[in-house]
This record gives sequence, structure tokens and C-alpha cells, in this order.
Amino acid sequence: MFAAIRNQSDVPLDFSFIPKPIRYREKEQGLIAACIKPLFQEKTGRHIFVHGQPGVGKTIACRHLLAEIEDETDEIVPIYINCWKSNTTYKIILEICSLMDFKFVQNKKTEELFRWIRQNLNKKSVVFVFDEADKLEDLDFLYMVLEEIARKAIVIITNYKDWIAGLDERIKSRLMPEILEFRPYNYDETKGILKQRMEYAFHDNVWDSDAFELIAKKTAEMQDIRTGLYLMKQAGLIAEDKSSRKITLEHAQLALEKIKDFSIKNPEELASDEQMILDLVKNNSGKMIGELFKLYQANGGNLVYKSFQRKIDKLQKNKFIIVEKTAGGGEGNTTIVKANAERKLTEF
Ligand SMILES: Nc1ncnc2c1ncn2[C@@H]1O[C@H](COP(=O)(O)OP(=O)(O)O)[C@@H](O)[C@H]1O
Ligand SMILES: [Mg+2]
Repeated sequence: MFAAIRNQSDVPLDFSFIPKPIRYREKEQGLIAACIKPLFQEKTGRHIFVHGQPGVGKTIACRHLLAEIEDETDEIVPIYINCWKSNTTYKIILEICSLMDFKFVQNKKTEELFRWIRQNLNKKSVVFVFDEADKLEDLDFLYMVLEEIARKAIVIITNYKDWIAGLDERIKSRLMPEILEFRPYNYDETKGILKQRMEYAFHDNVWDSDAFELIAKKTAEMQDIRTGLYLMKQAGLIAEDKSSRKITLEHAQLALEKIKDFSIKNPEELASDEQMILDLVKNNSGKMIGELFKLYQANGGNLVYKSFQRKIDKLQKNKFIIVEKTAGGGEGNTTIVKANAERKLTEF
């Protein structure tokens, strides 16, 4: 069924696996490469802002470019930062130190660490990729990099095209990025990508063509390649479970059942009331539902308590938030509402 897998970090159906080549993004990669190109002539590069909805290949296209640069030259340092994992200036600086193999970070302040980084990076050129930038809590590092790293190209990736508009002037005027949208893949492209992954991940001829087509169709509809990777894996596991040597339409259909839970694709698609409540919960994780309701009203929300509660239930059902009920205590039962730190399928 599944082809032999080399090692844990190299599993073809994992979202982080980088197949070669990255198809259908040649044009986008070319535009990003053009921003980096001056670095090869020891000039400073240009900056680029990449946006597009989740699961359309932004991360993979940029990581692939960085890998190519790494293969090609020692004079350009590729630095990839996931700003979800490292969401503050301090964490980003630590991450850069770790990428540069600098171990003596204990008890050092941000400024001190950055001085070390600057000194070493300024011997070469640097490509920075700041992925998932909308998850950042502060942008001081960006200002530091813009001001103090001499030869650089900065790639900023987010799911939201409006993010850049919210930047403050001192950053915007220094960044002046080109803007590049990654559009969703069409059906043929989706099918091509999944086919390539299928060839990596499965033995030859295990997929019935109608099973594969069903998954490709669903994936194109969802406009998120991760849906397809997830479905292919599930269908494979279901077939294995049934000791079938083939993955049939029925297995694909059963796999599809599993994504019903993910009916809401991403927070952007929530109604504005829900989005506002979700933001409130994220910013006030761990508060009691009553307190949240007060905050909601203070922020101009005008649902009555009962409807508010219903929205909370819905957000919980879709795994955006976690609701914990505790019995007893001085005030009787309490309901605590927390942000869901665990990522959803569509947010990897
Ligand atoms: N052109 C492509 N070729 C191969 N795999 C792709 C391609 N585009 C996306 N993928 C796969 O789809 C998944 C989502 O892509 P990703 O780059 O993480 O999307 P984004 O960063 O836009 O959310 C990843 O597992 C990635 O490997
Ligand atoms: Mg990404």
C-alpha cells in the first residue's frame, strides 16, 4: 500500500514534505527569485509580500527556493522563520541564533543577541522568509533587520492580503515590497500535485482511478492541497484496515466522511460576529463565559446572552476554541473558554 518511507521527517504525505519539483508555481518562484537575484551580485535585494489563502503552496514554494540557494552558494544565508512558532521579536532572534548555530544565548538580551547576528550576517547576504506573519505579536525585529542588515531580501508571507496595510509607516516606507498573490490551484493543477504525491507515497497501481478522482475533485473544491494529502492518507489507511490491496471508491468516500468535521475551512469564512467572538477568546483565553460576554458587549457586540452562548458552542464544535465546564466551587458551575492552540487541519 504505502511505499517504504525513508525517515520520520520525510514522509511524502506530510504537509511539510518538499517534493521536487514544485510544479505550477514557476512564475511565482521566478518573481521571488528576481528579488533575491541582486544578492548574487553582492548588491542588496528587494522585498516581496506574498499572500494567498491557506494551502496554496506559499510556504512550500519559498522553502524550495531557500533550499536551492543553499545548494548553490555559501555567500547567501537563507533564514526561514515560522512566525506562528516564533511570534515575538525575542523568539525570532533566538530562532535566528539557533539557525546560525550560536549556542550562547542564555541570559542574553534581545539587543545583545541581535548585535551578534548583525555582525555575522553582515559578512554575507541574507534571504529572510517570515512565514505566517499575521501571527506576529510585534514587529521590532523587522525594523531591526530593515535598518541594520546590509544586503538582504525579505519575503513576508501571510494568508491575508490586508495585513500589509496595517503596518506602521516607518516599516512600510522601508519595506516597500512587491506584492504577489498565490491564487488557488485549478482542478488540473490540483490533480497534478496530488498525482505527484501519490507516486511518492504509494506503490504503483494501488489507487483505483475513480477513488483518486473523487479526492482530487474534493480537494479542488476546497482549494487547499492539504485536504487532498489528508484524504489520500486516510483512504490508504482505511484500505489497509480492510486488508484491501487496492484503494477503491468506497475507501475514498469513507475518507471524505472524515472531513465533515472540518466543514468550516478557516476563520476568514466565519460570519463577522463569530470572528469577533473568536478574536475575543484568543485575546482573553481562559476567561469565564460571563466575563467574555461582558467584553463582547463592551466591544460593541449586540447579540443577547443566549445567542452569544450559541456562537460559543458553534466555535467549539468547529474546534476553534475549547470550552471547559467545571462543577462546584463557590460560584457553582463555571464555564471557561480557551483558545484552541492545537492547529486545525487547514492551518498547518
Ligand atoms: N505546487 C505544489 N507541488 C507540490 N506540493 C504542493 C504544491 N503546492 C502545495 N503543495 C502541498 O500542499 C500543502 C500546502 O502547501 P503550503 O505551501 O503549506 O501552503 P500555504 O503555505 O499556502 O498554506 C503542502 O503539503 C505542500 O507540500
Ligand atoms: Mg504556509
